[in-house]
Amino acid sequence: MKFGAAWYPEHWPEVRWPEDVAWMRKANMNVMRVGEFAWSTMEPREGKFEFGWLDRAIGLLDKASIDVVLGTPSAAPPAWLTQKYPETLNVDERGRLGVHGNRCHFKPLSRLYLKFCARIAGEMAKRYGRHKRVIGWQICNEYGHNSHDEYTRRRFQDWLRLKYRTLNNLNAKWSGAYWSEDYQDWSQIPIPVEGHNPGLRLEWSRFHAFTYRVYQSAQIREIRRHADRRQWITTNLMGWFGLFDHYEVTKDLDLASWDSYWGKGTPVPVDDALPHDLTRGFKRRNFWIMETQPSSVNWNEINTMHEPGRIRLRNWQAVAHGADAVLYWQWRNALGGQEQLHGSVIGADGKPRPCFDELAGLGAEFKKAAPYLEGTAPRAQVAFLNSYDSRWAIEFQRHHKDFDYVWHLREHYAPFFRRNVTVDVVSALEPVAKGVRLAVAPALWVLRDDTAAQLADFVRDGGHLVLTTRTGVKDWENTMRPTLAPGPLAPIAGIEVEDTYPLLDPVEVKGKGLIGKCKIWGERVRIRARDAEVRATFGPGCGWLEGRPAIVSRREGKGRVTCLAGWFDEKLLDLVMAEIMKEAGIKQRFAGPKGVEFAVRSGGRGTEILIIMNHTDKPAPITGIKGTDVLRNRSVRGRWILQPRDVAVVRLK
Ligand code: GAL
Repeated sequence: MKFGAAWYPEHWPEVRWPEDVAWMRKANMNVMRVGEFAWSTMEPREGKFEFGWLDRAIGLLDKASIDVVLGTPSAAPPAWLTQKYPETLNVDERGRLGVHGNRCHFKPLSRLYLKFCARIAGEMAKRYGRHKRVIGWQICNEYGHNSHDEYTRRRFQDWLRLKYRTLNNLNAKWSGAYWSEDYQDWSQIPIPVEGHNPGLRLEWSRFHAFTYRVYQSAQIREIRRHADRRQWITTNLMGWFGLFDHYEVTKDLDLASWDSYWGKGTPVPVDDALPHDLTRGFKRRNFWIMETQPSSVNWNEINTMHEPGRIRLRNWQAVAHGADAVLYWQWRNALGGQEQLHGSVIGADGKPRPCFDELAGLGAEFKKAAPYLEGTAPRAQVAFLNSYDSRWAIEFQRHHKDFDYVWHLREHYAPFFRRNVTVDVVSALEPVAKGVRLAVAPALWVLRDDTAAQLADFVRDGGHLVLTTRTGVKDWENTMRPTLAPGPLAPIAGIEVEDTYPLLDPVEVKGKGLIGKCKIWGERVRIRARDAEVRATFGPGCGWLEGRPAIVSRREGKGRVTCLAGWFDEKLLDLVMAEIMKEAGIKQRFAGPKGVEFAVRSGGRGTEILIIMNHTDKPAPITGIKGTDVLRNRSVRGRWILQPRDVAVVRLK
C-alpha cells in the first residue's frame, strides 16, 4: 500500500524541505509525486537543464525512505517555449489561441511540441530512470482537450482516410447525400461542431484517443529508452470524464490511476464506488488514486469541508474497490498561483492543518493492513459492459433530455452495490472475461457485429446477459441499422423493438413479483421467438406501450438473455436485478444495516480481506462475520458495533 501526496518543492526555498519531509514521515507517508508542472524550473532556458534541485529533493525523500513518482511536466510548458513557438499552442472550439499562464494550452498533436515533451521526459529518464527510489512515472496531467486548428484537422482527415480508405465509402457510411454532406476531397472534412453529422461527430470523439496515444507515446518511448522496466508508467485520469476512450488510452500504460475529487454536498457512496470500479476495469487490475482531496477543493460554488472521519472512510472505500495507493493533492499549498485556497495536508504556514491527524492515522492503518492487502484484488462475477461509442452517440442525440448514459449505467449498477456484489466495469468491445456469470450491457446503442457475436457466445456458454433500452440501433459508423433493434442481438433476445417512446411521465410496469414504474424511455416490443418469456408488461394508460412486454427473458444455449424494454425506476430495477442475480447464481454474501458497505479483496492463496464501511452517521450493528480485525488486532464474531463513518478491515476465517 502506498500513501502520500503531490509535493512541489520548487514552490519553496530549499531550507524548508527537510521540515516538509519530516512531516511526511509523521504523516506515515511512503510516496511523493514530484516534478509535475515544474518544466520552467527543470529547463529554464531552451535546452538548458537544471536538475540539481530535483536531485536534492529526491535525495531527501530517499533518506526518509519515501518513494517517488515522477510527473513529466508537459501540462505546463514554459513561457519561452510558447513565445518562441506559438504553433505549439492550442486553438479552442471558438478559434481562440491558447494563452500562457494556465495549464493545458498546448496542441497535443503538434510535432514540435511532442519533440520538446520527448526531450524533457528523456532528460528526466536519463537522470532518474535507474534511481532506486523512483518507482514510476506519470505522463502529463489529466488529458482534457484537443485542438481545433488546421494542422489537427489535417491529421483527423488523414486518420479518417486510413480508416475509410475511399471517400465513396465514407460518404456512403455517413449518408453523405443528406444535406449535401458528401465530400469530393478529404481536405473538405471539417472538425465537427455541435449539430454536425452523427458519423462525423462519433469519429471526432474516437480521434481523441488516437491523439492522446500519439501524445503520450512520444514521452513513453523516451522514458522506456532510459528507465528500468521496474519503473511503471501511468497518467492520471478523471473517472467518468468522457473526452476519449479510456480503454484505448490505457493500452500503452502499465497502470491506471485517477484523480478522485468530491467537493460537493453529502456523499453518495454508490457514486464514489462506481468510478473506482470503472478505473479498475481499464486495465482489469488494481489502480492508484493519484490525487484526492485531503480536505476541501477550491473549484466548487461552496468549498465545504467534509465532516471528521469522512476522508478516511472514502479513502478506505477506494482501497476496498481496488486502489493500491492513495495520494493527496496536495502536500502544501503554494503562497501564490491559482490554487492558493485548495485543501492541503500542510498549510501555507508550513504547519499541519486540522485534517493532519485523520490523514496520518489513515497512513498508520494502511501500514498495518498492507501485509494483508498485498496481492489481493476485488474479484467480480458480474461485469458491466461500458461503451464510450454508445455514450457519445447518445449524448449527440439524447432524444430525451434526461437520457444520460452514465446515469443510466449507474442506476443499473446500484442494485449490485446495494447487495455488496463486486462488479467490474469493462469495455463492451472486449470479450467477457472468464469467471463472469452475469454481464449487463446498458444502452449498447452503437453495436458492432463482432461484439454481438461475442455476446452470443458468452450466453451460449452459460452466461447471463442483460440488455437495456437503446440496444443495437446503430452500427459502428453511427448509422441506423436497417433492422429493428436490438439488431444483431435480436435472434438471441427473441424480440424486436417496433418503436421507442421517450416518456413525459413515468408509466406502470406489472409482472409476477415485478411491480414498479418505467421512466424516461420505453420501447414497444414484439416477441419474435416462441420460447421468449414475458415477465412483465406495461400497464393500462401507457398509450402505445399499453399491454406490451416490458421484461422479456429467454434461454439461449446454456445461458439466458433478459431484455428490459424501458428505463425502470429504482424499485423495479432492484427487483429485476435481484431475480436475475438469483438465476445467474450470484449470491449476496454480506448484509448489514442500510448504508453499510461490505467489499472483499482476495488473493491468489485464498486470503480474503473484508472491508466494512459505515457510511452513515449512526452506529451500525454487524453480525455474522468471523475473522480478525487487522486494524484493531482483535477477533470479531457474533454481534458488534461499527461506529458512524468507521471502517473495519477483517481477515476472514
Ligand atoms: C486536479 C489537478 C491538480 C489540481 C487539482 C485541484 O484536477 O490534476 O493539479 O489542480 O485538480 O483540485
